[in-house]
Amino acid sequence: MPKVPVPPVISGDKHRSGHFSRREIVNALAAAGIGTIAGALDHGYVYQRRHLEVTRETIPVSGLASALSGLRIGFLTDLHRSQAVSHDMAAGAVRALLAERPDLIVLGGDYVTWGDRRYVAAAADALAPLEAPHGVFAVLGNHDDDRDMPHALAAKGITVLRDARTRVTIKGESLDLAGLRFWTRKAGDIARVIRGASSNLILLAHTPSRLPEATALAIPLMLSGHTHGGQIVLPGLGAIAAREFPVIAGVARREATAVFVSRGVGTVYLPIRLNCPPEVAVLTLEPVRPVS
Ligand SMILES: [Fe+2]
Repeated sequence: MPKVPVPPVISGDKHRSGHFSRREIVNALAAAGIGTIAGALDHGYVYQRRHLEVTRETIPVSGLASALSGLRIGFLTDLHRSQAVSHDMAAGAVRALLAERPDLIVLGGDYVTWGDRRYVAAAADALAPLEAPHGVFAVLGNHDDDRDMPHALAAKGITVLRDARTRVTIKGESLDLAGLRFWTRKAGDIARVIRGASSNLILLAHTPSRLPEATALAIPLMLSGHTHGGQIVLPGLGAIAAREFPVIAGVARREATAVFVSRGVGTVYLPIRLNCPPEVAVLTLEPVRPVS
């Protein structure tokens, strides 16, 4: 079973981890030296983290077959079902994605927080209504255990890819979906997962830190979450966590590899989002057009 990180203790009472009051959160942030914006963070707690957006992006993909041009992928990640992320929030994200009627759906991991078994079934229940003409596929995140969560997702008809590749046929073209375990990092190991794939290949990697390997392997498209977009994006400073990742949110390109990093739905550490609303995404693929 993969190691699950230990949450920081903020309140001093580890049994209440994740059960912070608004006052505790604002006081903790103020104690960290950012008390002057505590009011704004308070707003982030009560409002912004619940204000889900639907992001629609068109992504040029190297080598994409013309028959797959216009394919729409629904992407939902980092649900983090927990006391901080209610069933209503999770169900709202699922409804928002279904309303877009994507051709296939991808889930990017972190369905619960800190491997909390109390929410495994609840997370799977919230995701159960997801359906798409070409299927629903998932990878696990660093917060997910390697047994209960994949079993719960599979029981809802979701295909979980753990260092595995699958193929769907759309309009007579093969589309390969390869999904990594969070702890699979080496280019050689990723190469084994994608061996035999067609040129229409999407890599699902929970963390965008796999971008250098994806670029080295000339993988045309990688989808990731994990960053939460930084979760707290300070005016003038940007996302606190931005330096840790090659891409913190949105679409980027490195050589032949396009990447989309979603801000995700839920929150971790603190139930706060600031200038970084939760999202589900609909990604429309098109072939890279030759430079004329
Ligand atoms: Fe996450």
